[in-house]
Amino acid sequence: MREEEKSLKVREILPFDLSRLIEIERASFPTPWSKEALKVQILSPFAFNLLIEADGVVVGYIMCLISKDECHVLNLAIDPKFRRQGYGSKLFSSALSILREKGIREVYLEVRESNLAAIKLYLKFGFKAVGRRKRYYEDTGEDAIVMHLSL
Ligand SMILES: CC(C)(COP(=O)(O)OP(=O)(O)OC[C@H]1O[C@@H](n2cnc3c(N)ncnc32)[C@H](O)[C@@H]1OP(=O)(O)O)[C@@H](O)C(=O)NCCC(=O)NCCS
Repeated sequence: MREEEKSLKVREILPFDLSRLIEIERASFPTPWSKEALKVQILSPFAFNLLIEADGVVVGYIMCLISKDECHVLNLAIDPKFRRQGYGSKLFSSALSILREKGIREVYLEVRESNLAAIKLYLKFGFKAVGRRKRYYEDTGEDAIVMHLSL
């Protein structure tokens, strides 16, 4: 079935989503967040967490922290089986619209400099590279590119 024929839903992440998020997290990152870290994020009062469902199947999620009028994107992943079908863009654009409605003005994130897929996605939404954190990722020693968007 083509992506546009599927029923898409973006909604807040709830505690019962945890096991599916762990699956996607482990399939998406060389050093995935632990179950405990995901749980803390899901329950945090400072968090803004959304997921996207296609025909009722959770295919990806975004996790952020909010502080005053700033948002820090901490985690974003789409299940490898569902990538390159527009789900990341749909989820990201929904998240940015809701953040704008909430009065958030600045969005920041870090991304591995080798992660061209994610960097292209962020550039598509108007993010600009504003800095670099040296050897930010302990597993590979890779630098992080800091990206920023004013809403
Ligand atoms: C980054 C990620 C979330 C993108 O999700 P997705 O659903 O595949 O993204 P989309 O299909 O909406 O694509 C959006 C844009 O991203 C870019 N992109 C996505 N995958 C790409 C790839 N493999 N190579 C190059 N560009 C890519 C393209 O610019 C694309 O736009 P286009 O289709 O108009 O060319 C997904 O690849 C992922 O989960 N990666 C692993 C986890 C990760 O790296 N998260 C980000 C951490 S900072």
